[in-house]
Amino acid sequence: MSAETKSRRHTVRTIGERKGKDPIVVLTAYTAPMARLLDPHVDCLMVGDSLGMVLYGMETTLAVTLDMMIAHGRAVVGASNSALVVVDMPFGSYQESPQQAFRGASRILAETGAQAVKLEGGKIMAPTIAFLVERGVPVMGHVGLMPQSVNGLGGFRAQGKSADEETRILEDAKAVAEAGAFAMVVEGTVEPVARLVTAQVAVPTIGIGASPACDGQVLVTEDMLGLAGGHAPKFVKRFADLDRVVGQAVETYASAVRSRTFPGSEQCYEGRKRK
Ligand code: KIV
Repeated sequence: MSAETKSRRHTVRTIGERKGKDPIVVLTAYTAPMARLLDPHVDCLMVGDSLGMVLYGMETTLAVTLDMMIAHGRAVVGASNSALVVVDMPFGSYQESPQQAFRGASRILAETGAQAVKLEGGKIMAPTIAFLVERGVPVMGHVGLMPQSVNGLGGFRAQGKSADEETRILEDAKAVAEAGAFAMVVEGTVEPVARLVTAQVAVPTIGIGASPACDGQVLVTEDMLGLAGGHAPKFVKRFADLDRVVGQAVETYASAVRSRTFPGSEQCYEGRKRK
């Protein structure tokens, strides 16, 4: 392989080596334009099944399909150069058996070019994670608040408040790491639990609404950019207010159309110059 064709992407190995070192920067991306914008600034792009809620306006992530994840995963891989791309396995595509999970994961890797898959679940999914990893599928785990189990959890609420929940989450995280996951998302747990998990598992933890003690952080990009309307979870810090910026730009365009000042001669086809 020539130097030019060698991948310049982060790998599951380089991300795994960041445990306890430089914090790992992760954002979700579902489309090519967003992947292009984010890629130079992050270590990992996560094609999360949150796309069902954020892009498609679904109430939960449960109706997202493997074909949807593959289409969006392919767009994100195609528009990025350096980030590790991880694609979520959607609800119903892996819980039945390790074999079913392998069929879904192998489609994701082959049809998108992503480097890894992510799946939700603790102890109960450990044998499936081991099955995938042993067959060459890098897996990111996901413990704590697991949106695909929202019906069983009784809604989106903080996890780990009781001693029993703390023990369950810690055991889940250890099982996922021991099964061979290269990293894991820790979502929506109270801070002491995320801190404990991070201290006790050997692989990087990527927190969302969890704790600064995690080895990295992930947010849904539309939430942190202020593009989610009123739908962002309460814990999300807005780093921009793009809802307002887009509204202003569209209003300016609408006024120009209504007053017939757009398009000007520069924007007509004949007047177009190549930039
Ligand atoms: O679905 C998703 O986007 C996720 C991340 C936010 C962790 O699972």
